[in-house]
Order: sequence, then structure tokens, then C-alpha cells
Amino acid sequence: MITPAALKPFLPTALEKTDFKGLGEKYAGKVRDVYIQKEKGQAILIATDRQSAFDIRWCSIPLKGQALNQLSTWWFGQVKDVMPNHIIAVPDPNAMVVKDLKMLKVEIVVRDYLTGSTGTSAWVNYNKGVRDFCGNTLPEGMVKNQRFATAIVTPTTKGAEDELIDPKGIVERGFATKEQWEEIADRAFALFKKGQEIAALRGLILVDTKYEMGYDEAGTLTIADEVHTPDSSRYWVKDTYEERFTKGEEPESLDKEFFRLWLRSQGFEYGGKHPDITDEVRLMLASKYLDLYERMTGKPFVIPSDAKVAERIERNLAPFRL
Ligand SMILES: Nc1ncnc2c1ncn2[C@@H]1O[C@H](COP(=O)(O)OP(=O)(O)OP(=O)(O)O)[C@@H](O)[C@H]1O
Ligand SMILES: [Mg+2]
Repeated sequence: MITPAALKPFLPTALEKTDFKGLGEKYAGKVRDVYIQKEKGQAILIATDRQSAFDIRWCSIPLKGQALNQLSTWWFGQVKDVMPNHIIAVPDPNAMVVKDLKMLKVEIVVRDYLTGSTGTSAWVNYNKGVRDFCGNTLPEGMVKNQRFATAIVTPTTKGAEDELIDPKGIVERGFATKEQWEEIADRAFALFKKGQEIAALRGLILVDTKYEMGYDEAGTLTIADEVHTPDSSRYWVKDTYEERFTKGEEPESLDKEFFRLWLRSQGFEYGGKHPDITDEVRLMLASKYLDLYERMTGKPFVIPSDAKVAERIERNLAPFRL
């Protein structure tokens, strides 16, 4: 395992943002910088090291962008029989060139456990008394981190603030037709099933995840953005889940939930004071991301030989300038 100390040289060059010329108009997502190349029907997605949680940008985590981009690339390959993906090329550890899709205006969340700590999460809503969750009827008497009888899909709208929505709302608001939504949900369940099978082989539980999909020029439903990364998914350690669950302890998590719980433990609340994120915490988070990459892919994470990450990305993207 890569220790936090080994990542220290990358603290000063963690990728907060990019400002590359000639790649097209830039749009900054929470984590990715997107350069849109409409004329070529493609976009360049650069995974930065920005860390967001609770819809707030907190800090940068060294090498996180690389871990995300490489893990996503690996996963797109693993699920390519389930549905086509947006990748055209992966010219750099932090970047992919993708088909510029007509994106759905909803995020497709699939959940197999009653958990979470954000306003749209299953547990927070259940705990407030919600039993009709995005069109799914949740039974009484469930406890935090319990597995559902079957996985459920709980879509949210994609806006400044994600809002829960049910399939009826999706059709009414024109985000998709009924037939389209049926295909979308069906593919999401199939992706999730495959993801869970693969995660289980690595001793991990894929707890829940968020997919983004869109239509390509031919009108084919295609998976976009990222897939089964620790930013878009929760992962728990399988071996210790039962025992911890029985004792009422939190599962061992290998994802962003660790950071959310850490923020909560520092007294963070929406609208309240923001705790300081120390370098020690940044390094610890980095090693979590890299650890998950290695566990999942079974491949060693390749630490760059040179800390000048931004310069390398710009060099590798030169052939894709407009
Ligand atoms: N193939 C694609 N075509 C067009 N847009 C895409 C494609 N893949 C991803 N995107 C969009 O690019 C942006 C990537 O930014 P980022 O991953 O930081 O996401 P975000 O939407 O800001 O936050 P989050 O994913 O955490 O909800 C998103 O708006 C995503 O919808
Ligand atoms: Mg995203």
C-alpha cells in the first residue's frame, strides 16, 4: 500500500484547476474541467484533484484526479458489455477524450443499502420518516446501513442543487419518455449488478452509486462522466460489514463517505463554520483513493516520476488542440 508520506512531494502540485489554451471552451465541474469541442463532437474531461463533499469544494487531494480517471477508465472497460461508454481516447493519466453526448438532466442513483449523510440520501430521508422514496416504498423498521431486499433506483435532478425525483416526475418534466426511462433504469441495474459482482471478488461491497448517461449522435444510450469511482459510489469492506452492522458500528468505508464523516466529526453543518483541512488529512484521503484503485484493479498505482502534473497533462493533450 502507498503510504501518505510517499505522496508528500505531490502536495504543492495538486491540481486545483487547469487553464489550457486551444482545447476549446472550458466548463468547470465540481471535480472535472471539461473542454468542449463541439465542432469535433467531443469533449476533453480532465479529472482534477479537487475534493468536494456536501456540494462544497474543500481542498485538493494529491493524485486523486489520476486515481479517479484511471479507475473510471478501468471500470468502463469492465462494463463495456453492459452498455457503450463515452470514451474516445485516454491520452493522459488525468484525462479522457469523450463523445460529447446529449446528457440526461437526471443523475441515476442505484442503492442497495439504507445509508448516507446528505440531504438526498436514503438514510437521512428514512430517518426523517420518508417511506415513499423516489417512487420506492421503503418498509418500516429498517436501521442505518441495512441492506434493502432488492436494489432501488433513486434519481435526482442535475442542477445547482440535486433534488429527488421519481419516474413519474421525470416523464412529466420531460427529462425522458417512459420508454426511455425504462431503458435507463434497466441499464443502471445491470451496470450495478456487474459492479457488485466485480467488487465482491475484491472483498468489497458496492453499496450505491451514481450514473450519468446521455445519447450519442446515433441516439444510442451511452454511459458518461465516471463509473464506480469512490466519488460517485460508496464502497465498504465486505469481511467486516456483518460484525460491525450487528454491533451498530459504521462500516469500514473506502470512499468519500470517510471525508463526509470526518467533516461531521469536526462539527460541520450546512451553513456553519468550515473546519480546516490539514495536509495530514489531505494525504490520508489521497492514500485512501490510491488504495481503492489498487484493490479494485489489482494493479499497482503508478506514482508519476515528476510532480509537474499540469505540465504533463498539457503536453499529452497537445495533439487534441483545435
Ligand atoms: N460524455 C459527456 N458529454 C457531455 N458532458 C459530459 C460527458 N461526461 C461528463 N459530462 C459532464 O461533464 C461534467 C463533469 O464534471 P464533474 O465530474 O466535476 O461533475 P459535476 O456534475 O460538477 O459534479 P458531480 O459529478 O459530482 O455531480 C458534468 O457536468 C457531466 O455531466
Ligand atoms: Mg461528475
